[in-house]
Amino acid sequence: MTLFDLTESELRRRTSLKWNVYAPDVLPLWVAEMDVRVLPEVVTAVTEALEAGDTGYPWGTRYAEAYADMADARWGWRPELDQLRRSGDVMNAILSLLLGNTAEGDHVVLNPPVYPPFWQVVEGYRRHVTQVPLTASGRLDLAALEAAFTGPDRPTAYLLCSPHNPNGTVHTAEELSAVARLCREHGVLLVVDEIHAPLVDPGNEFVPVLSLPDAQNAVVAFSAGKGWNLPAFKAGLYVRGTDAVAAFDALPPLANQSTGQMATIAHTAALRHGQAWVDAVMVEVAANKDLLGRLVDDLLPGVTYQRAPGTYLAWLDCTGLGMENPRDHFVARAKVGLNSGSDFGPDHGRFVRMNLATSPALITEAVERMASSLR
Ligand SMILES: Cc1ncc(COP(=O)(O)O)c(C=O)c1O
Repeated sequence: MTLFDLTESELRRRTSLKWNVYAPDVLPLWVAEMDVRVLPEVVTAVTEALEAGDTGYPWGTRYAEAYADMADARWGWRPELDQLRRSGDVMNAILSLLLGNTAEGDHVVLNPPVYPPFWQVVEGYRRHVTQVPLTASGRLDLAALEAAFTGPDRPTAYLLCSPHNPNGTVHTAEELSAVARLCREHGVLLVVDEIHAPLVDPGNEFVPVLSLPDAQNAVVAFSAGKGWNLPAFKAGLYVRGTDAVAAFDALPPLANQSTGQMATIAHTAALRHGQAWVDAVMVEVAANKDLLGRLVDDLLPGVTYQRAPGTYLAWLDCTGLGMENPRDHFVARAKVGLNSGSDFGPDHGRFVRMNLATSPALITEAVERMASSLR
């Protein structure tokens, strides 16, 4: 049994972003949608709500309780309900946190290469990015962070992606504690996006930043949207550390207005009933990462894949191909749709991001097409 059992023609019937942006002859392995069916318990919960006419405004703490139970069972850490607040989607939660806790002209630290909307949520709202790139091995650079916190562009906030999109780094407890300590020391608000938290290869441990006693100054944005492939349903949670009351108090009006009732029901069902399901997804994704590693070694000389345990995304260094824009090449010549590294940071145009939440057959087909395009 595989969770990635939908055929290409079934997937092409979808109307969402992944399967529609590129022309029909392009195999799309780009935006972070998964080629899976919806968890049956989500279908049941949403169907029952629709049949009952339960289509009003969201109310209560069911999503928060489901999250707390997941955090306890999965990570051995349980937040109190007063640490949780409903949000709309994760990017809107981050936007509200930044609007409420920073001022126009302030600097916000990002770790390129990083998820493109992180740039937009800072620069699009009259704040400036202070770049602290990941190290060559894809990890947080603590010395460079400290230098940024004390340098001329002193930030008021730091937006951390955990696990890291696009390269899948899973930050360690030591790294997260060190980051939180630096933020506390220098008066920087630590905002952590944990939307990919459940998406970690088997045998690897994700550390929720707020499970760490010395990271209670952090604020987290979470949603079941990524782990259970529910971006169609806009709901999420703000989670604050025990020392981050002020960050919640500073949230602007309407900071949770975009939460949908149906979305809350869908996400809650996913958290309640989909823990084994997301683990099964990551068993298959881990096998896809193995497969990609072999295919890249065998068929794509000049491309380097540095495998990491987080997310279902693969970050491919195409520098050895000597192309200015490998994404454009692969779309035009291989008919494979990937994300361009240039969207993740100014120095990353020679990378591409590939989405591995699909069948091994489609991954194999994509890499074979990419290899042919290089011959
Ligand atoms: C790191 C990260 N944050 C946020 C999002 C988007 O979340 P939402 O749709 O809830 O805004 C994504 C989507 O891929 C993501 O990778």
